[in-house]
Amino acid sequence: MRLKDCHNIGDFRKLARQRIPSPLFNYIDGGSDDELTLRRSTQAFDDCDLIPNVLNEMNEVDLSTHIFGQKMKLPFFLSPTAMQRLFHHDGERALAKVAEREGLMVGVSTIGTVSIEELAKITKAPKLFQLYIHKDKGLTYDLINRVKEANFSAIALTVDTIVAGNRERDLYTGMTTPPKLTLRSLLSFMTHPEWTLNYIFRKKFELAQVKDYIKQGTDITSSVVDYINDQMEPSVSWKDAEDAIKRWGGPFAIKGIVSVADAKKAVDIGATAIMISNHGGRQLDGSISPFDALKDIVDAVGGKIEIILDGGIRRGTHIIKALSLGANACSGGRMYLYALAGAGEKGVQRAVTKLREELIRDMMLMGCKSIKDLSRKNIKFR
Ligand code: LAC
Repeated sequence: MRLKDCHNIGDFRKLARQRIPSPLFNYIDGGSDDELTLRRSTQAFDDCDLIPNVLNEMNEVDLSTHIFGQKMKLPFFLSPTAMQRLFHHDGERALAKVAEREGLMVGVSTIGTVSIEELAKITKAPKLFQLYIHKDKGLTYDLINRVKEANFSAIALTVDTIVAGNRERDLYTGMTTPPKLTLRSLLSFMTHPEWTLNYIFRKKFELAQVKDYIKQGTDITSSVVDYINDQMEPSVSWKDAEDAIKRWGGPFAIKGIVSVADAKKAVDIGATAIMISNHGGRQLDGSISPFDALKDIVDAVGGKIEIILDGGIRRGTHIIKALSLGANACSGGRMYLYALAGAGEKGVQRAVTKLREELIRDMMLMGCKSIKDLSRKNIKFR
């Protein structure tokens, strides 16, 4: 597989599987338990059909939307994901540069490997910081202050990861952060020499946002599951979320909402947006897919809060279906992570270009000149 043979996210997945050691590929690719929610999050889009209209003098398409108080050139953004340096030595820098070129919002994770401050220097693109409330409240508050000083556009509080999902692929492969050299992993690293040489000789791996507070995951090898279970605060409450909103004082999303009741609570505490998400099918297996949860949540809180559909997106048509059902925008991690792992910044650029081209083509064929033209009139559930 070569980058120029990648024409969709499925192709990037094949490239990633070829380019990086299997513990890392399976960390990206995997979900929890039997991966039912992981699969359903993409399959759900197949349950509804698009209804195009014709003869609409389609000479141009406006893909822009407004979220977090600003105009975004595209109706999707790069969701925050962890430990990107593991997948390619460009890491989060790759996303920052593509976001700059594309005018895309880029998500940055608490468990990221390029610092908040460095990313703020690399790109003026809108930046969303993914916050986890740690047991170390001092760390949590410092993160909010650092993000404020770095002029990020928004914060997304991740609320579906108070304990780690059952990532059985990581148990089979022995995946850790940072990667540890065992007999089993040695074979995988030896069969991926380019990745191994880059890992050894390029920028050192570190959890850049938290390394000065927490040694686990940077200087002390740990599974991601152990990091989450040791460091995240399980007793976090809506009061804590409201407190974080007040401390931040800017556009704020609650990431990991799938119930109508919680969507209403997000409105009540003054959140700007909700990200309907199941963490990429990596947390509670069997939980509802974002697209299956979308309609009821839009009916309950649409117009009162911005609604972002996060996860499962593999095609432009998936984005169009979500927007037609009432989402304001979409986001995803694997939509660019496979491409990052397979080819760094060039890969991410190609993945975003392909998705943008799909969206333009799909909107033309839908007969929709603008995202604003999308509505439930142009989809039908079977
Ligand atoms: C995961 C967390 C770190 O899903 O986002 O692994």
